[in-house]
Parts: sequence; structure tokens; C-alpha cells
Amino acid sequence: MKVMSVVGARPQFIKLGPLAREIEKDFEHIIVHTGQHYDHEMSNLLFEQLEIPSPQSNLGIGSGGHGEQTGRMLKELEQEMLHHRPALVITFGDTNSTLAACLAASKIEIPSVHVEAGLRSFNRSMPEEINRIIADHTAELLFAPTSEAFKHLQREGLEDKTIVTGDIMVDSLKFIQRKVKSNEYTGKPYYLLTLHRPYNVDDISNIKSLFSQLSQLDEEIVFPIHPRTRKIIDESDLILPKNLKIISPQGYLEFQSLVKYSLKIITDSGGLQKEAYIAGKPCITLRPETEWVETVVSGWNTLMDINDEYLSEKIAEFNPVNSRPDLYGNNVAYKMKNEIKNLIDRFN
Ligand code: UD1
Repeated sequence: MKVMSVVGARPQFIKLGPLAREIEKDFEHIIVHTGQHYDHEMSNLLFEQLEIPSPQSNLGIGSGGHGEQTGRMLKELEQEMLHHRPALVITFGDTNSTLAACLAASKIEIPSVHVEAGLRSFNRSMPEEINRIIADHTAELLFAPTSEAFKHLQREGLEDKTIVTGDIMVDSLKFIQRKVKSNEYTGKPYYLLTLHRPYNVDDISNIKSLFSQLSQLDEEIVFPIHPRTRKIIDESDLILPKNLKIISPQGYLEFQSLVKYSLKIITDSGGLQKEAYIAGKPCITLRPETEWVETVVSGWNTLMDINDEYLSEKIAEFNPVNSRPDLYGNNVAYKMKNEIKNLIDRFN
């Protein structure tokens, strides 16, 4: 019996790792990589570190406008699915690769499962919001990471298809944490920064304003830079603050070391907000909203405007002291695999 997983972007490889190990025990597992992310650090390195088998196919789609990128994936993925005829397709998260995979499967009536279902930012200008809504409404089975995500699915009438499994990234973190070593910044206090959301980086004035604020902090800021952001900065005349250390995108292992020894995290990523919570690091999220509201409710995450004129003071003063209850579960991949088995039995 074949099961197909479709991935394409960095956060999806992280979610695939633990599930791939479980799926392989009971099924023939076909991994299809759309090629949305293609730099070594954004792709192959993560497969190596998470010990994920190489994909059977890499569609090499690469970059492009949303319509073009998604359209090309849709066409190629349909061919892959018709060729392998999997009993089920697994999709992850909210990228254009997720959207193409769930649409391709639904058009040829192959059931799909959506990992990380029910997240909502309620901001429809994010392509990810549209992608996740469509993935949830086309899938046969939804794996919600939290009870908050379950509530969103319930409101949309999808509760009968939903199982609250916990968050698969907990399994990936456990897998990598035993391998984490210190890094060259260990011992010095530093902030860890990531930034790649189009609404933050596509307008250089936002980055200018952020950098001007960050230059007022006493500590260093380590910034593994996303290729989208690198391109925009390289094409500008921006003068970089002296305390900002720009480094290339990191492997998962190296990145978790940067998280572990950081003072605080400043980010517009989704997944990193959770990783910060699990690691006990205060997180400053440069977004107007978050899908991971429980991290904010717990007091460990705070939303700030990238253009806030008091940003540096607010970052320095954000020092949560609350306890951190376990929000994201464990042995998530194992639970998911069993539910996938049940679904396949139902369809065959
Ligand atoms: C995508 C996801 C986003 C996720 C993010 C994680 C969508 C709509 N967005 O955004 O949800 O949080 O991945 O990283 O799917 N690039 C490279 N090398 C690479 C990959 C990308 O240079 O290996 C460049 C591309 O040329 C492009 C830009 O980065 O100019 C953006 O890449 P793209 O895959 O379109 O979206 P992300 O911004 O990475």
C-alpha cells in the first residue's frame, strides 16, 4: 500500500521527518518534493539532519509568482499521483506546495490528510491563510495541533474530520535536540532574528525602521537570513547596524543551537514562535496577528509592529516570568500514523 507525502518548503521538511519514520514502518512511502525551496541550506541539509529518505521525485518548480508556481506544481503533482496511485496523500502546513498537493489529490479523488490543520491568522492578505483554508476544506482527515485549531475547524463545520493530535514539530525537536551543540555565539548574550514575510520585507522602509531600532540594543543580533530578504537588502543602499550579524540560512541542527543559547527571539515566522515557547525563550513576533495564540496567552510571546518607534525599548523590557504548561503534546507522529491506517482501512 502506497502513501504519498508532498513537501516543498523548509518548514515542511521539519514536519515530514518524524512522520516519515512512522509511515515507513507500515507503508511504501513516496516522498515528492516540489522544489519550491532549492538552496542546499533550505532543503537538502534538512533532509540529511532529520534523516529523511531522499524524495523519489523532485519536481524542480523553484520560484515564481503565486499563480505560476502553484499552477506548475498542480500539473506535475497530478502526473505523480496518477503514476503512483497512492492510497492517500499527506500535505503539511500552508505553503503553495500544500495548496497544489491538496487540489491535485482532490481532483483525481485521492483522499488527503492535512497535517497542521485549523490554524487561522484571520488575515486573508497572507497567501498562507488561503492555502490552509483550502487544504482543510479539501482533506478527508485533519490533524489539528491544538484545541484552539480544533475550535476554528469546528466553526467551519469540519469537526467530524478532525483529530487533535498535538504538534508534530515537538517530535522533530526531540529528535534533533540530543544532537545540538554550542555555537560560535554561545557565552555572549545575543538576540536571534528571522524575517521573511512579504508584508514585512518587500517594502525596504520596514527593514530600515527595524534595523534602526535594533541598532539601539546593547547586545548582538544574529540573523540567519532568508533568501527573499537577502535579495531585497542586497538590492538596497541600506547600511547595516554594527551589532547585526547576518549569516546564511542555517540547518535545523545549527538553528536549534542558535535558539538554545539566545537571549530572546525576534521573528515573523510561524513555527519559530512555538520553538521559542518550548525552549523557554521570550519571543517578539513582528506581525499584527498570530496563529499560535496560546503562546501569547501564556505570556511568552508578544506581537509588535515592525515600525513601532519604541520597539528597541519594548524588546529589551519583554521578560516573561509565567510558567509554561505543555501545550503541544508528544509522540504525535505515532498517533498520526495510526489515524492514517484507520482512514486507509475505511477507504479500501
Ligand atoms: C514560503 C511559504 C511560507 C513559509 C516559508 C518558509 C508560500 C506562499 N510561502 O515562503 O509560508 O513560511 O516558505 O521559508 O508558500 N528562494 C531562494 N532559495 C530557496 C528558496 C527560495 O533563493 O531555496 C527565494 C526565491 O527565489 C523567492 C523567495 O526566496 O524569490 C521566496 O521563495 P518562496 O518559496 O516563493 O516563498 P517563501 O518566502 O520562502
